[in-house]
Amino acid sequence: RLRRLIADAFHAPRSGELEELRDALFTLDADGTILSVEPGGHAPDAERLPAGQVLLPGFVDLHVHAPQYAQLGTALDLPLEDWLNEYTFPLEARFADLDFAETVYRALIADMLALGTTSALHFATIHVPATNRLAEICLELGQRAVIGKVAMDHPETCPEFYRDASAEAAVDGSRAVIAHIAALPDNAGLVAAAITPRFVPSCTDACLEGLGRLAAETGVRVQSHVSESDWEHGFVRTRMGRSDAETLVHFGLMPAHSVFAHATHLSPSDMDLLRERGAGVAHCPLSNAYFANAVFPLRRALESGLRVGLGTDISGGPAPSIFEAARMAVAASRMREGGVDADRPPSERGAGPSRVDMRTAFHLATRGGAEALGLPVGAFMPGLKFDAMAVDTTARDGTIRVFGQTGERLLEKILHGASRPNIARVWTDGVERHRR
Ligand code: GUN
Ligand code: FE
Repeated sequence: RLRRLIADAFHAPRSGELEELRDALFTLDADGTILSVEPGGHAPDAERLPAGQVLLPGFVDLHVHAPQYAQLGTALDLPLEDWLNEYTFPLEARFADLDFAETVYRALIADMLALGTTSALHFATIHVPATNRLAEICLELGQRAVIGKVAMDHPETCPEFYRDASAEAAVDGSRAVIAHIAALPDNAGLVAAAITPRFVPSCTDACLEGLGRLAAETGVRVQSHVSESDWEHGFVRTRMGRSDAETLVHFGLMPAHSVFAHATHLSPSDMDLLRERGAGVAHCPLSNAYFANAVFPLRRALESGLRVGLGTDISGGPAPSIFEAARMAVAASRMREGGVDADRPPSERGAGPSRVDMRTAFHLATRGGAEALGLPVGAFMPGLKFDAMAVDTTARDGTIRVFGQTGERLLEKILHGASRPNIARVWTDGVERHRR
């Protein structure tokens, strides 16, 4: 475990505030909590990162379907509802097999760590044993994780081969996973549980009610999808007579630090509901390009004070890396602003001021995601845990070439260009979890 490290670092402790920490001395306590960060600090016993390596906070991925790693990068030509029925539910059903679960989950967590993702909010499957196994693997490999057994019991939207046998089974299974995670030895806060209704269409009213009671009883976070696509948004409105977000609130499924994925079609009043309750949004720009039928109004959400972080939505998005999510968040915001229809006059294109830049995306990828989930990470500040990656800007097999850039321009180059070979080392709680 690290105790003292000297490195050049960047972080974004608050939205819009990028800080460069030159030659900073990081001092950690025995649990990996940051005690102090002193730019230009000296300590004879400190390890020093090699020249050309830059320290960044580890990334937070707010939306992962861990089992779907097995189909990453495939079948994205279908609409959401067909993709679920034809590919995703059959794949997730295979996680009844613990050996298969072990293979996929181990590969996923190792790869995410190697890509600098030190924290993640995971959907598992409906299976209690495989979900417990995912929690154990996160703990063993050292990824900070919030994990939920997926609850889905609605006989009209979930196939017989892949659904909870009843509303009680969905709630009891969720309770069993919460208890298993609470009892994991040597956990020290690295792994936690979340109540996980897949999305409103997949749950009966009895299931949503039972999960809401479980949330009140246990105090754990909730994760789900909200207003993802025209189909999903419309389906909930027709069935419930209210919006997706209003439905979640109605059933008691929006405690503080809950995180809802996509939110593409969230109305301004739905955004107010999330903000008032201290819930956040997992912005999944790559997945949204395939399934959402719209571009999430990221800038409007941020200006309204909503907590937002980034998600890969493995495998609704084809890339497992938060670097890719950050790049797409910036690009999608520019397309939303600039418009997509060259046949219209410039004054009629686009949705008005929508752009965000890489600094904003960097904040979302780090402290923004951490604040949404309420995790003590995402920036280099005393009291937070040391979750970090060392990016090697000189790696020969990497994808960054620095020609004199420093400061913000160097960070921008790293965020736009870095790939797995550039990520030299990764830590959580000050413990090295990956080395290239
Ligand atoms: N809505 C319900 N389930 C899913 C899923 O697995 N992925 C995405 N992107 N949306 C969903
Ligand atoms: Fe999803």
